[in-house]
Amino acid sequence: MTQIIDGKAVSKQVRERVSLQCEELKRQGVTPGLAVIIVGEDPASQVYVRNKEKACEEVGFYSEKYALPENTTQEELNNLVKELNGRKEINGILCQLPLPKHLDDKEVINLIDPIKDVDAFHPVNVGAIMIGDYNFLPCTPAGVMELIHSTGVDVSGKKAVVIGRSNIVGKPMAMLLLHENATVEITHSKTVDLADVTSGADILVAAIGKAKFVKADMVKKGAVVIDVGMNRDENGKLCGDVDFEDVKDKCSYITPVPGGVGPMTISMLMQNTLTAAKIQNNID
Ligand code: GUN
Repeated sequence: MTQIIDGKAVSKQVRERVSLQCEELKRQGVTPGLAVIIVGEDPASQVYVRNKEKACEEVGFYSEKYALPENTTQEELNNLVKELNGRKEINGILCQLPLPKHLDDKEVINLIDPIKDVDAFHPVNVGAIMIGDYNFLPCTPAGVMELIHSTGVDVSGKKAVVIGRSNIVGKPMAMLLLHENATVEITHSKTVDLADVTSGADILVAAIGKAKFVKADMVKKGAVVIDVGMNRDENGKLCGDVDFEDVKDKCSYITPVPGGVGPMTISMLMQNTLTAAKIQNNID
């Protein structure tokens, strides 16, 4: 019997854990604070940022939102990041991506103080993840690991295949699986005989951004299938990178879209902000 992994339930557990720890920090006089920057009017980004603000309120954090106009200059954006770096009550800084075309996201990410980089996008944090000695994990891969743990399946020694090699998901995802002793392969658009590779996976993580790309013939019987995708199908309906209906009876566990990885990402951001607040205040 295939089990559907309930991302909403796991996400709620993480937020409850963060909320309890936030109460404890407040007793010690520290309120975790997150600053979220959004530039322009991208509708999807607006929704993400609103949800991040709501999550902060839910777990008891202080938050500030900076909604900057589309015509913001690089210098203005950089100056805001520098100011936030210097503010004690702000423990985490997040600049929502994508930025408008005239702005350089790398420049902004590199300016964020690594100890406030709750996205874990700064090269210092990316390097720390590579060597397995990190403060923060990038939110989406960290959320995927929580979901895998929730199944009780032991990752150690398993064959894990990641489809997609982005800096935000695919590459760090592979690292986290490797840290837990999986044998990991990263596949991508140039991979020859992709289905041959993916159908050998005990754990398959799809993060390619192509609607319903993963079909049953690409999945090993009894695999754990995690779908990071967030796409629209031909009818405009939200769907993942995995063809859920085609694949679901073949696996042991599968995440739905929506309600799988999506709800986890913001919960892991809350976790990272809490960690940042603890480190910046020398609290264990
Ligand atoms: N845009 C889409 N996902 C993310 C994310 O995880 N962090 C930031 N900063 N921007 C995003």
